[in-house]
Amino acid sequence: MIVLENNGKPLGLRLYDAITEAILSGRYAAEDRLPSTRELSARLGISRNSANAAYERLEAEGYVTVKAASGTFVARGARLTGNRMRPRKEERIGFGVKRHDVIDFKSGLPDGHLFPVERWSRTVASVLKSATPSDFGYGWPEGRIELREAISAYLNRFRSTRCTAEDILVTAGTTQAVGIAGRILLSERRSVAFVEDPLTSDIKSILSHEGGRPHPLRVDTEGIDPAAIPDGPAPALVYVTPSHQYPTGSSMPIQRKLALVRYAASSGCVIIEDDYDSEFRYDGPPLPSIQGLDPERVVYIGTFSKTLSPAFRTAYMVLPPRLMKSAREAKWLLDLHNPLIDQLALAAFIREGHYARHIARMRRVYRARRGVLVSTISERAAARGISAEILGGDAGMHLVARFPGTRFTKTALSALETAGTRVYPVSAHSLIPRAWEDSLILGYGSLSEEEIRKGVEIIISFVSSQAASARPRGTKRDHSISR
Ligand SMILES: Cc1ncc(COP(=O)(O)O)c(C=O)c1O
Repeated sequence: MIVLENNGKPLGLRLYDAITEAILSGRYAAEDRLPSTRELSARLGISRNSANAAYERLEAEGYVTVKAASGTFVARGARLTGNRMRPRKEERIGFGVKRHDVIDFKSGLPDGHLFPVERWSRTVASVLKSATPSDFGYGWPEGRIELREAISAYLNRFRSTRCTAEDILVTAGTTQAVGIAGRILLSERRSVAFVEDPLTSDIKSILSHEGGRPHPLRVDTEGIDPAAIPDGPAPALVYVTPSHQYPTGSSMPIQRKLALVRYAASSGCVIIEDDYDSEFRYDGPPLPSIQGLDPERVVYIGTFSKTLSPAFRTAYMVLPPRLMKSAREAKWLLDLHNPLIDQLALAAFIREGHYARHIARMRRVYRARRGVLVSTISERAAARGISAEILGGDAGMHLVARFPGTRFTKTALSALETAGTRVYPVSAHSLIPRAWEDSLILGYGSLSEEEIRKGVEIIISFVSSQAASARPRGTKRDHSISR
């Protein structure tokens, strides 16, 4: 079976990669016949031209031989012996063609079709034309002043922060920013890191990697409750996503934010405020940041991954002045600084108003998609008589759908994938066992309205088949789904 990785490369190249990997690893033996390009294009949903281009390259490089009128065969001597390549994860789980037509509700992905390509190219071209020789040299770890000024002006205006350009450190994504925060705040003496539960598993891994001991604080419909923080050793930090908790989507009311600030002051810890997608808020004005309440106690992190594209790997930290020196050193040790031309282009993009306009445009698009998702879930669930609850739909590019009584086990997920939709259970992000098993994170940023409708129909059909088979007690559950 041929598995194409979903990695954004052109399809022909992915096919070429998949086949060379199979040949080198010995999974395809010499003289094995490869499927015809016609078969492949039908099975994988790629064009004949892409399949032909991949086969021509494989033949030119000696991986395959073409025998007139009988087909394409794996050539002799193309196997990598003694150093067998590790099979890809999908293959370890089981062979199968990874479907391209699957509707993927992965969260956190902006719509790549709507990236402002023309405007961005013009901005980069103009930055390059006016760049001085030193712009092509090395820079400082904290980032270009032009970008830090643009970010601080933007944040103070739209996110109610209180900062200047001097407080900003430009980083390679939130991922790196959380790592830097962990590195400068965690120590052997103070290693507890309170984290929300559920939370994205990356954050937990990053904090553990930096020597932290993540300790879960259960999230309810208003985020974490500072009043419920257990007594015990004071933490070095508390990581929160107060404007739109990831993944549950809850937001913290002002009372809890203030209680958290008081807790930080009394315990001497720092609040890490991850404000990853609050630009997209649909029902009311943006929620103010915690940083604006107490800049001395908060490390605020924002990212361009949702508003523009995760491909930029650009985010920023707003740090209390006392932490800037050590954060700057940590950034220097990691990678010196973010790429300079990208920083200058982003600064111009923000300064000239294109960033705010792009966000406003995307907010309209995502609001419409959110509307379709919410209404289709309610309508389809009502039509089939099942109960569904939606959480956290007022902001961002994902929401949580709860289907009381349904368990999204591995078997269930694979049945849903077979039926044509890929979904992600909240339980995968929870440190607390067996919590959130009835809930799915549904990302809608990169799906069309049509895909959202179709995907929801599949999910609801599955939930309803589960409910039907659960009714007569003791009978076996049916994972088949009607399309
Ligand atoms: C909670 C949270 N914060 C931040 C991010 C963004 O990470 P980055 O800026 O490294 O792309 C994500 C990505 O999905 C996320 O889930």
